[in-house]
Amino acid sequence: MKIQYRLCLVTFCLVAPVLQAQTPTLTIDASKPVTAVSPTLYGLMTEEINYSYDGGLYAEMVRNRTFHDHWPPFEYWTVVAQKSATAQLKYGSTGPSAALSKSLQLTIVDAGPGNEAGISNPGYWGMAVQPSTTYKGSFYAKVDHPNVAHARLIADDSGNVLAQAAIVLPVGDWKQFQYVLHSQPNVTASSRNHLELTFEHPGIVNLQLVSLFSPTFNNTPNGNRPDLMKMMSAMSPKFLRLPGGNYLEGDYINERFEWKKTLGPLVDRPTHRGPWGYQSTDGMGLLEFLKWCEDLKIEPVLAVYAGYSLKGYHVQPGKDLEPFVLDALDEIEYVTGDPGTKWGAERAKEGHPKPFPLHYIEVGNEDWFDKSKSYDARFEQFASAIRQKYPAYKLIATAPVTQGQPDVIDDHYYLTPEEFFSPDQNQKYDKMDRKGPKIFIGEWATRTGSPTPDFGAALGDASWMTSMERNSDLIVMASYAPLLTNINPGGMQWSTDLIGYDSLRSYASPSYWAQVLFAAHLGDHTIRTSGSGLDPRFFWSATTSEKNHMLYLKLVNASAEPQAITLALNGVHSGSAQLSSLHAATRSATNSIERPNAIAPVQSRVNVVDGQWKHTIPGNSIEVLDIPLK
Ligand code: AHR
Repeated sequence: MKIQYRLCLVTFCLVAPVLQAQTPTLTIDASKPVTAVSPTLYGLMTEEINYSYDGGLYAEMVRNRTFHDHWPPFEYWTVVAQKSATAQLKYGSTGPSAALSKSLQLTIVDAGPGNEAGISNPGYWGMAVQPSTTYKGSFYAKVDHPNVAHARLIADDSGNVLAQAAIVLPVGDWKQFQYVLHSQPNVTASSRNHLELTFEHPGIVNLQLVSLFSPTFNNTPNGNRPDLMKMMSAMSPKFLRLPGGNYLEGDYINERFEWKKTLGPLVDRPTHRGPWGYQSTDGMGLLEFLKWCEDLKIEPVLAVYAGYSLKGYHVQPGKDLEPFVLDALDEIEYVTGDPGTKWGAERAKEGHPKPFPLHYIEVGNEDWFDKSKSYDARFEQFASAIRQKYPAYKLIATAPVTQGQPDVIDDHYYLTPEEFFSPDQNQKYDKMDRKGPKIFIGEWATRTGSPTPDFGAALGDASWMTSMERNSDLIVMASYAPLLTNINPGGMQWSTDLIGYDSLRSYASPSYWAQVLFAAHLGDHTIRTSGSGLDPRFFWSATTSEKNHMLYLKLVNASAEPQAITLALNGVHSGSAQLSSLHAATRSATNSIERPNAIAPVQSRVNVVDGQWKHTIPGNSIEVLDIPLK
């Protein structure tokens, strides 16, 4: 507070002290760029968690399509039988491939046309069926008598058949059969549906890899859900960190992401147990990850397994680690090698002769958990082998190391809003020296709200993004985690996930919208700014784009009260500017599958003044202004 003296109008009072609040001021000089903004600042991080791929992005509708060992046997599969027909299930000791060497064996008795028996699958918390839509299916079968299979999508509540196809099965060895289901135009979009695969004749039917896909992004076979791909694309990401996270490491060494076992036809993928409590189909294999990048026009940040798994097991650096290092070199060759190389040829054989772009390789994940302290030597062993063959790539270490000279260190933050607002956190990188490795914030999130972040989390996230933008000469990349969650009971293993969905619908959290706004309005340079008299929960970021001749100004008011501020602007064009604002009445407000658009950005125009511009930012608000430069 400043004390000012003012002349009183009342005659007997000469001079009296008056208390006047210092006007909160934000001074912004848009005329002088200070540091370059990293062109790769915002990206995506992904792993198989919360049914992100299976039951999520990966458009497979059938759950447990390969009948992996699990108790109860044939989880998610039940017998269905019409009229007098019966069927019994047991494990079949044959399979269509070395990877899938067992099967589900059905013994069908007393069946006939219109009196079928078979199996039923509920999908991942239901199978979404839309009107007039084509679903593509397949299965492997081996029968001892000629048979006719019927694949049907059936509404759980009415029993109505929504789509169906018949498939003739001759006697013979294992063979793949394809089928197509077209839903009726009068179908009501719903996820309360299941798949039945039934047989007209008695006999023994062995089945494996029973699959049904909903329409995919770009109609890619074995592809991804279009709604989720579009939501990711709208985040303007520049990279995808893959394949995790804990998922890269696995609980045990033999449960790591073994990329070589995720290649080629699905029938050659054995599937594996992930660290989040469920089996992964590995339909989302290394090539599918890379195509996902290609579809979004972004680059992979390739994480290679570095010899540490979550239950505390590590591979001794030196001779024991050598096969893992060679495996990483093969993996890099698979991603980047031309078809003349061994692994480039493998990729070409799978239909992608063109190498994928790559600049960053991450060695491991969160290796600070390795109590054996072996990461220094493990990192060094990977770094020297990778640099010898691929000197151009930048190497990311997941913990501080004294050997191997990482180009980048991966820091992770899962904090509360108040922790992100604190000067310690918000100003952490302002103070960091610029002579060491660059920083990758490979995982970060404000963790309030479940399954998806609430508005308080969006404010924490936005405050943190102002810090990352201000320091983006040092912070080269950042990716929120986790990205995806299936919101059904049992679908989520880690709360506060950016995008929620069930098999039919998906929705964006307030934090998602904050990221969309920040990433889509980012300049190429930071500029000089200073604040005075501002609330401690008021944050800002200012960058300019030479190409767009624009100042991008982000204002975050994380207090519940409106902030009336003076913007002392220099170098902008006085006149109309675009204002995108994200606001909620309280920090607890949020979006959900039932109310997906409760909180969403609102666009308007405001008149900005070069010089002194008075502007009020409502409480609990994130504002992004696009102000033309002078
Ligand atoms: O994002 C969830 C988990 O958090 C990641 O798998 C792991 O890297 C981190 O501990």
